[in-house]
Amino acid sequence: MKNIVLTGFMGTGKTEASKLLAEKLKIKRLCLDDMIGWRVGKPIPEIFKEDGEEYFRKIESEIVVAVSKDKNVVIDAGGGAIINENNYKHLKEHGVIFCLTASVDVIIQRTQGYTHRPLLDAEDPRNKIVQLLKERQKFYIKADHTIDTTNLTSGDVADKIIEYIKRTVSKP
Ligand code: S3P
Repeated sequence: MKNIVLTGFMGTGKTEASKLLAEKLKIKRLCLDDMIGWRVGKPIPEIFKEDGEEYFRKIESEIVVAVSKDKNVVIDAGGGAIINENNYKHLKEHGVIFCLTASVDVIIQRTQGYTHRPLLDAEDPRNKIVQLLKERQKFYIKADHTIDTTNLTSGDVADKIIEYIKRTVSKP
């Protein structure tokens, strides 16, 4: 089976859905953000603060190349990973890409109160979210499938992805 890649903006539910998906399919889950943190040896906010976003993106790309070679895994790709054309190509080569979306209000609800997303550590998070979503739209629409998670639970999202996979696999 091809890899199943979950991408999409912060707060669209990738982490929980990818965990459930891997559990239900009984396959391995790889989380790019976790792997970046382990590689560098510090949490993401510290990497952004001390080494800068450019360094974070460099490590992110190296890890994308490595994990894309894997097979039969669920990949939880951080919201900025497919903005890079090369990352997108690697993930797409061996995987089906699902982009999760959600309304701005729900993104705010799901992200507020958490401090692990340096890009949303802004004076006006709503404004930042709207601006980033606008900039990233052209990359997110390149995904093979889009799932609006605004009114869905993580379980619903995982089930929808499993439905897609089953349908494609059983196609003559
Ligand atoms: C980012 C999303 C984060 C993390 C980093 C940058 C982004 O991951 O990779 O803070 O650029 O959208 P999540 O989407 O899992 O929160």
